[in-house]
Amino acid sequence: MRARGKKVHIKTYGCQMNVYDSDRMADALAPHGYVQTEDMSDADLIVLNTCHIREKAAEKVYSELGRLKELRARRRAAGSDLMIGVAGCVAQAEGEEIIARAPVVDLVVGPQSYHRLPELIERARTARVVDTEFPQEDKFDHLPPPSTIATATRGLTAFLTVQEGCDKFCTFCVVPYTRGGEVSRPVAKLVAEAERLVGAGVREITLLGQNVNAYHGDGENGETANLAGLLRRLSRINGLERLRYTTSHPRDMDADLIAAHGDLDILMPFLHLPVQTGSDRMLRAMNRRHTSADYLALIDRIRAARPDIALSGDFIVGFPGETDEDFAKTMALIEAVGYAAAFSFKYSPRPGTPAADLPDQVDDRLKAERLAALQDLLAGQQQVFNQAQVGRTLPVLFKREGRKSGQLGGRSPYLQAVHAPGDLSLVGTVQPVEIVAASKNSLLGKIVTSD
Ligand code: 5AD
Ligand code: SF4
Repeated sequence: MRARGKKVHIKTYGCQMNVYDSDRMADALAPHGYVQTEDMSDADLIVLNTCHIREKAAEKVYSELGRLKELRARRRAAGSDLMIGVAGCVAQAEGEEIIARAPVVDLVVGPQSYHRLPELIERARTARVVDTEFPQEDKFDHLPPPSTIATATRGLTAFLTVQEGCDKFCTFCVVPYTRGGEVSRPVAKLVAEAERLVGAGVREITLLGQNVNAYHGDGENGETANLAGLLRRLSRINGLERLRYTTSHPRDMDADLIAAHGDLDILMPFLHLPVQTGSDRMLRAMNRRHTSADYLALIDRIRAARPDIALSGDFIVGFPGETDEDFAKTMALIEAVGYAAAFSFKYSPRPGTPAADLPDQVDDRLKAERLAALQDLLAGQQQVFNQAQVGRTLPVLFKREGRKSGQLGGRSPYLQAVHAPGDLSLVGTVQPVEIVAASKNSLLGKIVTSD
C-alpha cells in the first residue's frame, strides 16, 4: 500500500479486448491506491495499452512515447516523477525492442501478465522491467473483479472476455503470436462476473474473444460448453437486457449458435462476421479455410434463423498477389451480402507472419485505390441500412442524456446511435422508438408510449 493517492492514466489503442483489459488493469491497481485520471499530465503512472495488428497501429506507440519523453522531462524539472509502462500486443511482440528503442519506458508488460502489474511496478522503481511470459496460471483467477463503483461509472454496457487467443493462423495476422493459442474461461466464472456486472447496473454485455465463436469452456456440470450454451446460460440472468459477441470466424458458426440467433431474444440481431475477401484464391492464401460460396451459404442459414439480422464484416485489400479480378470478387461479395457496417484495411505486412514474406506485395497506391472504392460501396450500404430503419420501431437502450436538452441518447439493436426526446428516468431502460429520420451516423426517433 505504499503507493496510496497515486494516479494512473491508461491510454487504450486497438480492439475492444484492449478496452476490457485496460479496465482490468485499473481494477488490479485500485487496491494499491491508484485512482484513474483522464488527464495524462496529472498522472504518476501512464500505461499505453497497445495494438500490433497493423503497422500504423504499432507506430502510434513510438510517437506517443516521444511525446511522453517531453512530459517526463517537464515533470522532473518541476521536481516530480512519472513512470511509463507499455502493455498490450506491441509489448508482447516487441518487448526488448521497446526497451532498446525508447529509454523513456520503465516497464513492458504483455497481456498475460496484467495480474502481476502491481508487483512489476514496484520492481520498475529500481530497474527497467520486461514481462512478456505466457505464465502457467490463469491471469483471470488473479485479477480482482471490478468494484461496483468502478462498474457503475463505466456505464450500462460492458465487455466480458470469454475467450482469448486464436488457433486459426490466418497468414496475415499477428494475433496467434501476440495473444497465444485459444483459451476459454469456465462458464461458472463468466456467469459470476456477468451477475456482478448486472448487479452494478450493466444492461448489455458484449462477450469478447479473438475467435469468440470457437469458445469451448468448462460447463457448470462437467460438460464442455460452446458459445450457444454460454449465451443460453447468460440469457437467464435477471436484469440483463442484451447480449452480443465479437469477433467470429465463419468456420466456427455451428448449427447450435445459428439456432441461438433464432431462439434468444436477448441476443441482438447484429453479427460481426469477417470474411476479409471475396476471392477464393485469396481466401486460400490467407488460410481462411472456406470459400466465398461457403460464406454466402452460411449467411443464408443465419438469415433463415433470424430474418432481421444485420451483418458487419472486416475486409483486407491488397493482400499479396491480389489482382483486379480478385478485388472485383470482393466487391461482388459485398454486393451480394449487403452490410450494415464494416471495417476495412489495406494489407499491412506484419513481421513474423507468413504473408509478410510472400512475393507479389501490392503497391501502396493500388491498395489505397481499392480501399477507397470498397469503402465507398460499404458506406453506401450503411446509408441504405440506416435509411431503411425510418418508419420502423426499434428497441433502444437509453444510455445517457442526449446532446440537445430534453433528448436521450441510446443504441439500437444494430449499434446505431439513436436520439429521442424523453425523460432522464428512462436512462438504463430499453424503450420502443419509432425512427423518424436517419443521418450518416445516427437515427432520430420518438418513444412509442403504450397509452
Ligand atoms: N493487415 C491488414 N489488416 C489486418 N487485419 C488483421 N491483420 C491485418 C493485417 N496484417 C484486420 C482483419 C481482422 C481485423 C481485426 O484486422 O480484417 O479481421
Ligand atoms: Fe487473426 Fe482472426 Fe485469423 Fe485468428 S481468426 S488469425 S485473430 S484474423
